[in-house]
Amino acid sequence: MKSINSINIIKPDDWHVHLREGNMLEAICNHTSRINVRAIVMPNLKLPITTAKQGIEYKQKIIQLTKDPNFIPLLPCYLTESLDLSDFKLALEKKIFIGAKLYPTNATTNSSFGISKIENIYSSLEILSDLHKPLLIHGEKIGKNIDIFDREKFFIDEVLIDIRDRYPNLKIILEHVSSKYGADFINENNNIAGTITPQHLMLTKKDLFFDDSINPHHFCMPVVKEEIDLLALRKYACSGNKKFFLGTDSAPHHIDFKINNFKSKPGIFSAPCSIEIYTNIFDEENKIHNLESFSSLNGPNFYELPINLTSITLVKKKWKVPEYTLFKDIKIKNFMGGEELNWKISQ
Ligand code: NCD
Ligand code: ZN
Repeated sequence: MKSINSINIIKPDDWHVHLREGNMLEAICNHTSRINVRAIVMPNLKLPITTAKQGIEYKQKIIQLTKDPNFIPLLPCYLTESLDLSDFKLALEKKIFIGAKLYPTNATTNSSFGISKIENIYSSLEILSDLHKPLLIHGEKIGKNIDIFDREKFFIDEVLIDIRDRYPNLKIILEHVSSKYGADFINENNNIAGTITPQHLMLTKKDLFFDDSINPHHFCMPVVKEEIDLLALRKYACSGNKKFFLGTDSAPHHIDFKINNFKSKPGIFSAPCSIEIYTNIFDEENKIHNLESFSSLNGPNFYELPINLTSITLVKKKWKVPEYTLFKDIKIKNFMGGEELNWKISQ
């Protein structure tokens, strides 16, 4: 087969990204706007975004700091057990919130305000279902006796199935799906889709526990798993299957919170090279013709939003990902920093 050296695709959207706040937001937002028309920006700030007022202000801040005037941040409301439901409903109706995000308590970074009992948010879920707005889920169940590698499976079996059966019309996105079990579940269920990150297509637990040590730069939630999981995710992502789409979960932390610290924060920062990594993967799998479905079509179709009108070109050209992102007092280790990639966006 003739190898392809250049590909033109409809400009992507990132359906799951963390842009943070303050200097960090300023340091990173243009990495996301450089490639994407839209991005679903996660509401897990230090003080989570739970009200319409906070939502409006946060989106304004992002727009102010992003150089590309065409970039559109989309925001889900951070679900808590004590949400003001009339504010929530109004914010959904006015499209301040695109939907809502469910974080189980303490499942990941800044999730201490999350949900400990799903029954306590049935009224929020009902509002979502009635208004035909999506529920975005960090699908991991935390428990003393639940192995960290099984959290996704336990969440599906003990929480997600209940939500699905109770609200059959509710659209659900199981975000950063990380296991074959999770991906098969998405494939088999109507109204449920999934985003897949670059790291879950690149790494297994061998890359997390490397050289008899732990690599904190490969530590994220959900944790990367077994080869069988990686292969299943690659298959679904690259097949053109409409239920899977791009969501980088690019989640920067200052390097001091990743290393030199007893407790490393979970999160991998891939925004400086995420589309290039995805392109590498689709190329490796000989499925580059399906890249556009994953990056630019399946997401808007599921979210019932228009397909973007502009396009980007990626060329086969070796380049080295810079090791760090540096800005004012910020230092972030880039995913794949210092390593070579075969594809590059052409500016
Ligand atoms: C994310 C973060 O740092 O905010 N971390 C992560 O490991 N993915 C939160 C999340 O999406 O789980
Ligand atoms: Zn995330």
